[in-house]
Amino acid sequence: MSAQILDGKAIAADLRKTIQAEVSAITASGQRPPGLAVILVGDNPASQVYVRNKQKACEEVGFLSELIRLEADTAQDELLTLIDELNEREEIDGILVQLPLPEQIDEETVIERILPTKDVDGFHPYNVGRLVLRMPLLRPCTPKGVMTMLERTGMELAGKDAVIIGQSNIVGRPMALELLMARCTITVCHSRTKNLTDKIRGADIVVAAVGRPEFVQGDWIKPGAIVIDVGINRKDDGKLCGDVDFASASEVAGWITPVPGGVGPMTIATLLENTLQAAILHNSDT
Ligand code: GUN
Repeated sequence: MSAQILDGKAIAADLRKTIQAEVSAITASGQRPPGLAVILVGDNPASQVYVRNKQKACEEVGFLSELIRLEADTAQDELLTLIDELNEREEIDGILVQLPLPEQIDEETVIERILPTKDVDGFHPYNVGRLVLRMPLLRPCTPKGVMTMLERTGMELAGKDAVIIGQSNIVGRPMALELLMARCTITVCHSRTKNLTDKIRGADIVVAAVGRPEFVQGDWIKPGAIVIDVGINRKDDGKLCGDVDFASASEVAGWITPVPGGVGPMTIATLLENTLQAAILHNSDT
């Protein structure tokens, strides 16, 4: 293997330590700790795991953490009323509605109901718009976490060719905006993209967020490139794998993120970072 490992687990642990120290300083000064409310509708097994991990991370850094579980057949109006209540509550700085939602609930309507200053996912059109305009406030956690990892490589990002595979609202699109803000030249690829492998072969930075196990092959990677694997897939043998074929890609890349232990822990640490940011915003208002 030639690639250096971008150790998301270690970087996330570092970030959590810094956040924990800041929370201690806030509470020592007599202020309340940051508060995050997480809403889980239904019993999607993957969502249950994600939500549990988010809650555990909150408790470890000293946040107030509240999990609200709603039945899978909850009406949209009930969820909207709950969000209105959380928007009003002073001790709640962040509201996260775990996606996907059951089909009777419209995700966009729900996201738009969250106060933009409590939108710690960074999914509200206000926050997305601010990112487009290069004046970000709360930024989507996974792409922001990836930027933190890229900064740790010490590589100059300006002028690099970045290819993003995937165009989702959660990862692909905001990732493109983050990399553009870092002055990369960006190409966003999706299911209708022509000559995908040629595009990847030209990339100094590849971000894979397609949801296809071990899709990106080592011989598609430019030697020395930075490879960021956002995928979390379960193989037939029960093991986790990413969207990149790690064995072959790590022979060619300069830097690569493992799965697990790469982007996943960074997403959660960045959620904590955003909640702390929201708390500081709210405290400066009062
Ligand atoms: N489902 C998958 N990823 C995410 C995320 O980052 N935030 C929320 N709210 N739901 C998700």
